[in-house]
Amino acid sequence: MSIFTVKEGCVKCGLCSKLCIREIIQLGADGVPYGDSAKEGECIKCGQCVSFCPKSCCYLDFQEERVGVDIYTLPAASVSETFLRSRRSIRIYKDKPVDAATVLRILETVRYAPSASNMQPVRWVISMTREKTLEINKLIVESFRADVAALASVNHPRAVTVVSGWDKGQDVVFRGAPQLAVALVKKSHPFPEDASIALTYFELAAHAAGVGCCWGGIFTMAARGISAVRGLLGISEDEYIVGAQMFGYPDIKYGHILPPRKKIDVSFV
Ligand SMILES: Cc1cc2nc3c(=O)[nH]c(=O)nc-3n(C[C@H](O)[C@H](O)[C@H](O)COP(=O)(O)O)c2cc1C
Repeated sequence: MSIFTVKEGCVKCGLCSKLCIREIIQLGADGVPYGDSAKEGECIKCGQCVSFCPKSCCYLDFQEERVGVDIYTLPAASVSETFLRSRRSIRIYKDKPVDAATVLRILETVRYAPSASNMQPVRWVISMTREKTLEINKLIVESFRADVAALASVNHPRAVTVVSGWDKGQDVVFRGAPQLAVALVKKSHPFPEDASIALTYFELAAHAAGVGCCWGGIFTMAARGISAVRGLLGISEDEYIVGAQMFGYPDIKYGHILPPRKKIDVSFV
């Protein structure tokens, strides 16, 4: 029994076979596709065969959920462009937590981000409360305080301002964000950028859901070197902290002017 089957409705277009980058799906003499069981171990489970089948009649035995997508409701290009261009880092938040259902909805979309060989290597650790995020913040500030001279001498970005800001009542690390989503991959994973892509999806899916984000660069650099933060978040030593999104409901309205940006730097060759 193959992992790949074709049910009624196949028009023998051969697209599934053409799309199968590991050449598992072959065409029989009659033009009907079948799975070559000798190669099935190489399947990366990308699901291109099921997604692009014009008749939705390709099936994979490991696909538990078969969710339809209405491509005809895709927004016009100009609407999508406005959506993408209007995403901004949010640094002013409401004192109202984003509930678990909304966070899960965002993560459901993140699942569809691309990853090398479709490995989907990202593990998320999410601080769901302002109190937990504050606990993390305190650990970072205290660690920086203990080491501030050394950190300043190696020009650790922002270490000094994190501590002096904290003492003045400012939150330089989280900018007041009540919640935090940390993206991890195993240190052995050859493509850590998979997690950066997932973090980008997170920020955009959050934007769609009315949730504001800001990349936690200071948090990320700090957390990589502070074992107490890793411990608090349950991050093991074999995991690499790729990045984080600080998030919450924006307590600020979007304006009407896009920010300045550099000119495009591109060579068409
Ligand atoms: C990898 C990365 C790390 C960042 N770290 C921080 C940070 O620690 N604190 C912060 O306030 N903003 C941080 N930012 C947000 C940038 O400052 C912001 O994206 C940039 O100024 C452009 O503004 P916009 O996001 O509103 O378009 C980070 C952004 C990226 C991509």
